[in-house]
Amino acid sequence: MSNDELSIDHTAKNEPDLRVRLGPLQLKNPVLTASGTFGYGDEVRDFMDPNVLGAITVKGLTVEPTSGNKTPRIAETPAGMLNSIGLENPGLEKFIEEKIELLGEFSTEVLVNISGHSVEDFIILSERLAPFEEIAGLEVNVSCPNIDKGGMAFGTDPDLVYEITRKVKARYDGPVIVKLSPNVTDIVEMAQAADEGGADILSLINTLLGMAINVQKRETVLGNTMGGLSGPAVKPVALRMVYEVAEAIDLPLIGMGGIMNSEDALEFLLAGASAVSVGTANLIDPAASVNILEGIINYCYEQEIDDINSIIGALKG
Ligand SMILES: Cc1cc2nc3c(=O)[nH]c(=O)nc-3n(C[C@H](O)[C@H](O)[C@H](O)COP(=O)(O)O)c2cc1C
Repeated sequence: MSNDELSIDHTAKNEPDLRVRLGPLQLKNPVLTASGTFGYGDEVRDFMDPNVLGAITVKGLTVEPTSGNKTPRIAETPAGMLNSIGLENPGLEKFIEEKIELLGEFSTEVLVNISGHSVEDFIILSERLAPFEEIAGLEVNVSCPNIDKGGMAFGTDPDLVYEITRKVKARYDGPVIVKLSPNVTDIVEMAQAADEGGADILSLINTLLGMAINVQKRETVLGNTMGGLSGPAVKPVALRMVYEVAEAIDLPLIGMGGIMNSEDALEFLLAGASAVSVGTANLIDPAASVNILEGIINYCYEQEIDDINSIIGALKG
């Protein structure tokens, strides 16, 4: 699908250039999907064409197959949701056998999100995935709040963020994106650790740890007690963290957290993200990311912006 096929107001002048470069990763536009909210990209084909996006990020991958956490795994909250999926996925070998070829058929970039229970898991994942040209980059999830061992523990310890980043970088030649956890006091410290470890790109934020209680049953709503909060409720926190990291660290950023419409996405670009990922919004409308892309293009026409890069970090004052 070209810009002509998207629903765009063409009354204005030049077609905006939407290409963004995030270090070694060149994208045709700055709108991506967030891991865990878009499957492997093929489940949504009845609703939208993933190929119009800048990239898709597929479900979190672990070395061993993972069946995920106890149900219920989802709870609605005001302006958001809690999830404790627990990285349910088929595991590394099955992913390679059954998914990689299909992912190679996309004409957009495919980012693979990797998670581990140990530093060794990240080493295995990056080594094994390194030869596959179907993969445009790895997103290293050091920030999942929903697994017992490891997960977020990695993302809240700067030494571990540094070590994992360095070890993945030593084994994987393509772009390495480190996905940061918001469940820390100082996000810049974590970003710095990933930068020192050799990260090419940072993505932020993952979900915020939360919980909900059913007062009738006097039980926690989630089978796993706690889960990750996402959706509009987290957007101000995510935006603040993107802004702080953009001010302090000289690495390209992928911003996410509560992006539901193009205005939300533009806020992240202005705060300093070079691209944005759409997460929870996909669960409400699988075409949300395409609508957001259209909205960004229309904004460019309205504001007579020829090149999307001119608004990245272009907050006034
Ligand atoms: C149902 C669900 C599953 C998720 N699974 C993953 C995952 O496997 N790996 C990961 O790094 N993040 C995962 N996330 C976090 C999202 O990628 C994103 O960082 C977060 O939800 C914030 O964006 P949002 O508010 O737009 O959803 C998941 C989020 C949701 C809601």
